[in-house]
Amino acid sequence: MSERIRLVLVAGARPNFMKIAPVMREIERRSGAFEAILVHTGQHYDQGMSDVFFDDLGIPKPDFHLDVGSGSHAVQTAAIMTAFEPLLEAQQPDCVLVFGDVNSTLACSIVAKKLNVAVAHVEAGLRSGDRDMPEEINRIVTDSISDIFFVTEPSGAEHLAREGQPPDAIHHVGHVMIDNLLFEVDRLAGGTFETPISDALKARFTRYGVITLHRPSNVDDEAKLRDLMGTLAQISATAPLIFPVHPRTQARIESFGIDVPDSIVLVEPLGYREFLNLWKDAAIVLTDSGGLQEETTGLGIPCLTLRENTERPITIDEGTNRLVGTARPTMLAAAAEVFAHEADAVEAPRPGLWDGRASVRIMDVLERELGAER
Ligand code: UD1
Repeated sequence: MSERIRLVLVAGARPNFMKIAPVMREIERRSGAFEAILVHTGQHYDQGMSDVFFDDLGIPKPDFHLDVGSGSHAVQTAAIMTAFEPLLEAQQPDCVLVFGDVNSTLACSIVAKKLNVAVAHVEAGLRSGDRDMPEEINRIVTDSISDIFFVTEPSGAEHLAREGQPPDAIHHVGHVMIDNLLFEVDRLAGGTFETPISDALKARFTRYGVITLHRPSNVDDEAKLRDLMGTLAQISATAPLIFPVHPRTQARIESFGIDVPDSIVLVEPLGYREFLNLWKDAAIVLTDSGGLQEETTGLGIPCLTLRENTERPITIDEGTNRLVGTARPTMLAAAAEVFAHEADAVEAPRPGLWDGRASVRIMDVLERELGAER
């Protein structure tokens, strides 16, 4: 019988993949101590939303694919739970590692706990305070039943402590997404891979901004999306804005019949490397994503977050992120300010422990805690 610690890692949606990649590399480095079983729930399934990330990030082929696909939150979450339960019963791991705040994170942590399997949550403790966000519900529920918490910033540890989690279960380790970012930035600089799509865009537009938009609160309501696109169109008069469109947003733009001016350049969702090569040289990033708020801080790129709240306050306190909401005057003023300071040298002191070694710290903790239990 194997003496190695058996981990099940759950990958579901696009923002999980860049967090799993560095952890898988670290597990590989410690393959004498750990055995990894990678499960892809299939929450994201399009080639451009999933496969390209596995290829780009060098993540091994999943050991199991649950193929759940899209659906309402209940349908999707239930499908993941139903498929994950027998798998977990058969695999009998020592711990299930879940990442972030997507439906797959929630579904698999519930299943694991009910089978008495330990759950470790990577990126635990973040809170937007906004319970209208599906991700906030996923965070709260996942954290309420997890056993080991890996937090990216001090606010995460504070929330968990306030919610009564034991101090010795909370580990401030830094951010695995920054591990991955620094790793890929080095490889990009070293010419390890080619980025023809973003290279062509950069040749066309020497000075540009980048948009990402997919939060239901921004894109599902017609009046809201129309207004947002109108404001972005105004901003694009200063610099063209390149917009890799999430499938949800693409569908809404089409069904609402929203006209997009030429200065907003719609492109298909990009793979990790193509997207990195694009945003790392942008004059401005406008987004409602969670992860991009952190990645832009990681490289010192000005970021305007088009939301009323953020679960990642360190990017504002210490980074290059600004929370501007979606009101037209505020967005225009904030964008004008970014453009006015474009020539200034940006210092990018990264938040504490965002140093590329979070995966190492995570695996140190797991080796100590899970190894001791065996
Ligand atoms: C999910 C995550 C969100 C994350 C986002 C990144 C939850 C609750 N939300 O939101 O936190 O920021 O991923 O992308 O888990 N679709 C496709 N192809 C795909 C995936 C989705 O066409 O590969 C379409 C489907 O029509 C689907 C819609 O996009 O209904 C939304 O996908 P879903 O996974 O439900 O949520 P996201 O909005 O992507």
